[in-house]
Amino acid sequence: MITESNPALPDKQRIKSAIEDAVVKVKANLNRHGGDYPHIGMGRNKEYDWGSNEDWIEGFYTGLVWLCYEYNGDSFFREQAELQVNDFAARLEAKVMLDHHDIGFLYGPSAFAGWVVTGNEAFKSLTLRAADHLLGRWREAAGVIQAWGPEGDPENGGRIIIDCLMNLPLLYWAQTVTGVDSYGVIAKAHAEKARRFLVRGDDSSYHTFYFDQQNGEAIRGGTHQGFRDGSTWTRGQAWGIYGFALSYRYTREPDYLETSKRMARYFIERIPEDGVVYWDFDVPVDKDTIRDSSASAIAACGMLELLSHLEADDELLPQLQIALSRTMEGLMGAFSTLGQPEAEGLLDHGSYYVRGDLGLDGYMIWGDYYYLEALMRIWKGVPGYWYER
Ligand code: GLY
Repeated sequence: MITESNPALPDKQRIKSAIEDAVVKVKANLNRHGGDYPHIGMGRNKEYDWGSNEDWIEGFYTGLVWLCYEYNGDSFFREQAELQVNDFAARLEAKVMLDHHDIGFLYGPSAFAGWVVTGNEAFKSLTLRAADHLLGRWREAAGVIQAWGPEGDPENGGRIIIDCLMNLPLLYWAQTVTGVDSYGVIAKAHAEKARRFLVRGDDSSYHTFYFDQQNGEAIRGGTHQGFRDGSTWTRGQAWGIYGFALSYRYTREPDYLETSKRMARYFIERIPEDGVVYWDFDVPVDKDTIRDSSASAIAACGMLELLSHLEADDELLPQLQIALSRTMEGLMGAFSTLGQPEAEGLLDHGSYYVRGDLGLDGYMIWGDYYYLEALMRIWKGVPGYWYER
């Protein structure tokens, strides 16, 4: 168990209190907002906007509900999560806003989680249909899974983004259950391109990278949500830590473990005093610079995943354990909404798209999800919904 190997983590009673606070808030949101999903608001906003299932983020809400069900077995959560998964089935059928690669984010913590938690075969087959949809984003000539836009798009046709590493588990898993190799072959080819081109020599990362869509030749790195093209967007670095650790879990390819470790080292050497990172590692920091608590929550889960793969004598282990403790302390302290019973979100001070003035310094539903995933991993070894247990 992670907790036994890391005695510096917050004590179990505090972890339990934080989970119970989350469970109450998730239930209140479900009761208050019916079948709607939390969305990101413009500017600085301390409430979620609520709406239909049509963005890249709704799966995290369903994942939170499954985590609550796994915590206390309350059938209310199971019923609500099942209703939401039905919604995801209808969305896939009607192809509502699915012209992008974030199919793992959508169908992992919803349909796949439902399969893991309940064993419902319909959820398994929905997850496989989602994996097939993701496979449709593979561009053979470029050798990548295209992140955004239609095939042949002049700007985005050969573009990848680091976030996609978290969508690959859907494909790796599909290979294991169907025995069809192409799922895994494509996931690995994409992970390899991400490793070679998104991760830089100093272990920092590009958010995105462009390839020639006709022949796969590398063109250049760039950013979408980061501070500038060559900067390291903190959430991107966190997606990389977790994503490469998951690619290692499925493939046992040592390069992926090594890459996750390198990216983790870069991240943890830049954690501020209070434990929670700014929105970009290269942004000039003054008293008004905003954070991204969601990046820290994702990184915490990535560190927990990484710790589960390291040997007891790994030189990174002590540094990682301390960084994890500091991150959890920071998140559970000034960055959580513990003690604010009316708050809709679990974590405050997340940031979505700073340069686009979208979602600044507020609640981010994926931040809430990864925060509760980290707590549940520490509390009882429930590792979230990226692989079968
Ligand atoms: N996957 C989009 C983001 O992290 O903002």
